[in-house]
Amino acid sequence: MSGQTTKTRAAGDSIVEASDISVSYGKVRALRGIDLTIDEGEIVSLIGPNGAGKTTFADTTAGFLPYSGQLSYKGQEVGDVDQSTLVEDGMIYCTEKRDLFPFMDVEENLTMGGYRSRDTVDELLSFVYDLFPRLEERRSQEARTMSGGEQQMLAIGRALMGDPELLILDEPTLGLAPVIIDDISEALDPIQDRGVTILLAEQNVTFALNHADRIYLLENGEVAKSGPADEMKGDTYIRDTYLGG
Ligand SMILES: Nc1ncnc2c1ncn2[C@@H]1O[C@H](COP(=O)(O)OP(=O)(O)OP(=O)(O)O)[C@@H](O)[C@H]1O
Ligand SMILES: [Mg+2]
Repeated sequence: MSGQTTKTRAAGDSIVEASDISVSYGKVRALRGIDLTIDEGEIVSLIGPNGAGKTTFADTTAGFLPYSGQLSYKGQEVGDVDQSTLVEDGMIYCTEKRDLFPFMDVEENLTMGGYRSRDTVDELLSFVYDLFPRLEERRSQEARTMSGGEQQMLAIGRALMGDPELLILDEPTLGLAPVIIDDISEALDPIQDRGVTILLAEQNVTFALNHADRIYLLENGEVAKSGPADEMKGDTYIRDTYLGG
């Protein structure tokens, strides 16, 4: 059980390839036969209602859940490597819970995220502060005293400090005011321009359609629809069901 299965990869390859992935929690089948790929540099969004399986797919990709089927990250089977190996290999997961260190200040939280890349901590820190100036203004404030939106920025910032190749974001806009959602929106392009690939689990369908290159709609643990975001914007079913017509 180690990273021995790593294959030689070429530019333009998929960074994640999922084939016939099923996941159960006891008797609850949360994912059924998911086929999904993410190419390097893409933003791929999983959309779908509560309980559709978005977080389960993100958790599975990050190596937290057993699955059946094939699921590779950079050519290595996720189930064959330790979760920490995936992190070392550039997969950084910003969970819905944010997982901040509440009694540490902003800059300490960011620095804690930079363990993967000591040499580049300063460069990454200035990238994060350019992206979210509010974090720089609040660099000495304890994380627990930040607003919900500021904490979300901090969580994304901390994930970026890990210098991700694949950044998994679970519900980054959940519960945030529109003005903060705009700040997060504006951050996505520069992150993608750095070459970071993004898997975005989002209930906010408008946000997903506006920012993703491709969309997978999950319903009841299955892929109900998938395709380029531009096509999905015009899809009658998606419009009627998820955008109120
Ligand atoms: N730890 C768990 N134990 C048992 N069932 C679970 C567990 N986590 C998730 N589930 C079930 O798996 C299904 C998929 O849940 P999941 O959290 O992946 O959905 P989601 O699309 O992320 O939903 P939401 O939009 O509410 O975040 C749901 O039926 C849920 O109740
Ligand atoms: Mg979820």
